[in-house]
Amino acid sequence: MSKLFHIVTYGCQMNVHESEKIAGILHELGYESCDEIESADIVVFNTCCIRENAENHAYGNIGMLKKLKAENRDKIIAVGGCLPQQMNKAENLHEKFPYVDIIFGTHNLNKLKDYIIEKQKRKKPIIQIEEKEGDICEDEKPLRTSYPNAWVNIMYGCNNFCSYCIVPYVRGRERSRKSQNILSEVKSLVADGYKEITLLGQNVNSYGNGGGDVSFPRLLKQISEIDGKFRIRFMTSHPKDFSEELAKVMSESDKICHLLHLPVQSGSDRILQAMNRRYTSSDYLKKVDILKKYIPDCEITTDLIVGFPGETEEDFQATLDLVKKVDFSSAFTFVYSRREGTKAATMPDQIPEDVSKRRIMELVDLVNAQTRVHSAKYVGKTTEILCEDYDSKRGLYLGRNEYGRMGYFTSDTDERGNFVDIKINQANGVSLYGDKV
Ligand code: SAH
Ligand code: SF4
Ligand code: F3S
Repeated sequence: MSKLFHIVTYGCQMNVHESEKIAGILHELGYESCDEIESADIVVFNTCCIRENAENHAYGNIGMLKKLKAENRDKIIAVGGCLPQQMNKAENLHEKFPYVDIIFGTHNLNKLKDYIIEKQKRKKPIIQIEEKEGDICEDEKPLRTSYPNAWVNIMYGCNNFCSYCIVPYVRGRERSRKSQNILSEVKSLVADGYKEITLLGQNVNSYGNGGGDVSFPRLLKQISEIDGKFRIRFMTSHPKDFSEELAKVMSESDKICHLLHLPVQSGSDRILQAMNRRYTSSDYLKKVDILKKYIPDCEITTDLIVGFPGETEEDFQATLDLVKKVDFSSAFTFVYSRREGTKAATMPDQIPEDVSKRRIMELVDLVNAQTRVHSAKYVGKTTEILCEDYDSKRGLYLGRNEYGRMGYFTSDTDERGNFVDIKINQANGVSLYGDKV
């Protein structure tokens, strides 16, 4: 019987894809994936530290493994990702959870194989964090788990240092992959039947820094020229770097989805400056206008933070106003979380929890109302869904349209991996329901 692995992933899409790389490493070592943490011979926690609750979530789950480890001493527990990469956190983790066997960071994921082999031979825990990012590793063979969708890294790290954000400290400086490597990865994914390719980077518009050989719009154009029917998405774009050239490239190919995730964070210029975002609300609105000029049907999604240090009622109102103006098709909303080591952590006037709570509730209500309006406009219309999965409990196939809307439908044949035209007869919040036409 082969040995089993189980990976628990927290955080962003980048981490989800990194878990596929971890799965690839474990597969090479002869492990097979399993659904239950109890049966696994090796459990890997791929962690996130973007907000305090992401960290606490991981702590809670790692804590629950104490009992399982006591029952089976041979079970290997590894904790990697952004949480241990933070200053002094690996040591803290080891003190808190001495039964964890391997602790590694974001810069040495490619060495996990060696750590596991070493761990199989010795008792002592392995705690290995590398402070500096190394060269990009091109040998990783991810074990992909999300057919027909595939994620492709185009760059790593972030140089922006938004004052609230921990990412530049745990992901290092920007490094871009060579365009040839990206193009050949996408080509082979398309040849293997993948239908949606999402290009990943903390700030894809910075592609080209540290190793990239063309600009992001140029790279996107080259990818869109690859033969075959498939969709292209990319995330995340920083508004300060979003260019007219990118809007133009997006408008010229029917492969590139008419959806842009453009995190604005706040509508107040004072707060945007304190966040070190390097644009104003009117700069943002101008970028939206450029996008709409080239692609009138383009939908925009965003990230918003409430309760940043010093945020007044007026600042918050400016965020609500901007949300109304842009009319986002959906948005991720967050309460500011103080991250040790960032500039904002030392700012005076941290906002009381009850104030942030009230603001987030008001913001969520507004965003949800907009999302419902966006969904409702599909009723009676036909939209193309890329079928991702089958929900056996509900007897419905599901997938997304190019604007990222989730659609559910019935069909007599297995539609997974197919593009299917669906006539929508009902919209419910973020989800659409309909029949195959
Ligand atoms: N590189 C991307 C995504 C970063 S993390 C970008 O620049 O947009 C995703 C989102 O988490 C951010 O857009 C931001 O809205 C939110 N976020 C980051 N740090 C945060 C913090 N300290 N507190 C609350 N939300 C935060
Ligand atoms: Fe964080 Fe800003 Fe970099 Fe995004 S651009 S990862 S929010 S520092
Ligand atoms: Fe979290 Fe690291 Fe992503 S902190 S959001 S997993 S880059």
